[in-house]
Amino acid sequence: NNRTFTMIKPDAFAKGNTGAIIQKITNSGFKIVALKLTKLSPERAAEFYAIHKDKSFYNNLIEFMISGPIIAAVLEKKNAVDDFRALIGATNPEDAAEGTIRNLYATNVTNNAIHGSDSDENAAIEIAFHFKEEEIVTY
Ligand code: GTP
Ligand code: MG
Repeated sequence: NNRTFTMIKPDAFAKGNTGAIIQKITNSGFKIVALKLTKLSPERAAEFYAIHKDKSFYNNLIEFMISGPIIAAVLEKKNAVDDFRALIGATNPEDAAEGTIRNLYATNVTNNAIHGSDSDENAAIEIAFHFKEEEIVTY
C-alpha cells in the first residue's frame, strides 16, 4: 500500500460537500490515516504552490486557497496517487469524467473542489508539509 495527500478545497468545504466527498473517497477503497480541518496562511499557501508561481493563475489560486478552511488528509491504497487522480478527475471540471469528484462538486478550473498529489515523491513532500509523523495513524 502507498500514500497520497488530498485537500478538500475552500469551495467544497463552504458548500457543505465535505461529508459526501469523504464518503466517496472511502467507498472507493482509500483508507484515511490522517485528517484535519485547517486554514492555510498566505505564506503556507505560497509555499505549497511554489511550483506554480510563474503561472498566470497563481495569484487567483493563492487567494482562493486561503479564502476559507480546508480539509487535509492522508490516504492509503495500492497505487494511491494514480487511483486518486482518476477519482478526482481532470483539473478543469468541464473536462472531468462523469462521476468524478470534480465533475460532481467543482465549480470551475480554480474552484475545483479537491487536490490530489501528482507523484509519489510529491505525495511524500505534501504529507510532511501538513502532518507530523505521529499524526498519521497505523491501523
Ligand atoms: P491540484 O490537485 O490542486 O494540484 O490540481 P491539478 O494537479 O489537477 O492541477 P495543477 O497542479 O496543474 O494546478 C493546481 C491548481 O491550480 C488547480 O487545481 C487549479 O485550482 C489551478 N489551476 C490549474 N490550471 C489552471 C488554469 O489553467 N487556470 C486557472 N484559473 N487555474 C488553474
Ligand atoms: Mg497539482
